[in-house]
Amino acid sequence: MLRFALRGRKGLGAHKSRPLLGGLMLPAILAAGISLAAAGSKIEQPIEFPHDVHAGKMGINCMYCHTYARRSAVSGLPPLQKCIGCHEHIDSVKDKPRIKKLFEYWEAKRPIPWKKIHSLPDFVRFDHERHIQRFYFQQGQPVQEVCAHCHGDVKTMTVAEKVTPLTMGWCVSCHEQDHPENAVSAKTANGPNDCSYCHK
Ligand code: HEC
Ligand code: HEC
Ligand code: HEC
Ligand code: HEC
Ligand code: HEC
Repeated sequence: MLRFALRGRKGLGAHKSRPLLGGLMLPAILAAGISLAAAGSKIEQPIEFPHDVHAGKMGINCMYCHTYARRSAVSGLPPLQKCIGCHEHIDSVKDKPRIKKLFEYWEAKRPIPWKKIHSLPDFVRFDHERHIQRFYFQQGQPVQEVCAHCHGDVKTMTVAEKVTPLTMGWCVSCHEQDHPENAVSAKTANGPNDCSYCHK
């Protein structure tokens, strides 16, 4: 159901080269009326990856696996090689069903087909780098807290879930409260909540 809904929304992206707010685009978007699955709904993954074990119990840095977050728009997922690099040395869980499955993908030379959980429509511009640069590198907030602003407390999750709405109102309200240009122009033209800031 969620996959279907996402594809439906991505379909809107076909119009992304046209001005979003001019002409017929706005009514077309509103008429589409397709909504993402409610926050908190679970998606079935090929292997249930336990963030609570890796990021929680073992304390592995989020950016060790999601290496692109600090330098590009997307965060990215770790390649299978990274899982195997550790797991070929870990005997305590090697006979567990999920780890056997992990090695089946490896031996078949197939990447794990993870399903996407957080996804914005194509007409929205979002960039991890700017947010990570600001909260982590400039303000020195701990990585896990930085990611938690938008993804919830992932280090306690047995399966990654979407727990924030990722709606326009949600993005805008943080920009209004917490933006360098806040004092001057949060709600006015050319400020961080100018439509063109988030819409191509
Ligand atoms: C830095 C080393 C390391 C990396 C990298 C790593 N793991 Fe693990 N993983 C572990 C350790 C250690 C455990 C066992 C922890 C324990 O004893 O509870 C574990 C446990 C697991 C379990 C739970 C097994 C069970 O049923 O108890 C799964 C599933 C798993 N890892 C999958 C993965 C996947 C998928 C990747 C790649 C995305 C990955 N791991 C990357 C070290 C790692
Ligand atoms: C050992 C590697 C590893 C570590 C460490 C790790 N992750 Fe992940 N993460 C994964 C894998 C593999 C997936 C894909 C499977 C899934 O979605 O459950 C994933 C998925 C996610 C997703 C969902 C992506 C989507 O499809 O929308 C988010 C958000 C996320 N991780 C955030 C974090 C945060 C925050 C931390 C640190 C608290 C963290 N991760 C630490 C491997 C890791
Ligand atoms: C300001 C909000 C925000 C912060 C902070 C944030 N993310 Fe995201 N993240 C998002 C949004 C929005 C998406 C969906 C992007 C899309 O579909 O275009 C996403 C998607 C992802 C994905 C799915 C793959 C991808 O890159 O699209 C992963 C993994 C992820 N984030 C991990 C992280 C990690 C790890 C951190 C902390 C280092 C982090 N995020 C910080 C908002 C955020
Ligand atoms: C936790 C607060 C917070 C949330 C939530 C948040 N942002 Fe931001 N965003 C910021 C701050 C702060 C900046 C300014 C960073 C800087 O330039 O130093 C920013 C900057 C941006 C930029 C400018 C990037 C650039 O390249 O100019 C875009 C676009 C953006 N955010 C989109 C979004 C979208 C879309 C969402 C919702 C999915 C979102 N943001 C959610 C705090 C947030
Ligand atoms: C901080 C980022 C941000 C700013 C600024 C912003 N938007 Fe959005 N907008 C979004 C996001 C994210 C979505 C997708 C929401 C969803 O998928 O539920 C969206 C969706 C939309 C939609 C599709 C209908 C809907 O509600 O889902 C329209 C139309 C729209 N925005 C118009 C505007 C206009 C007009 C402005 C300026 C007044 C504006 N946006 C400013 C982030 C932003």
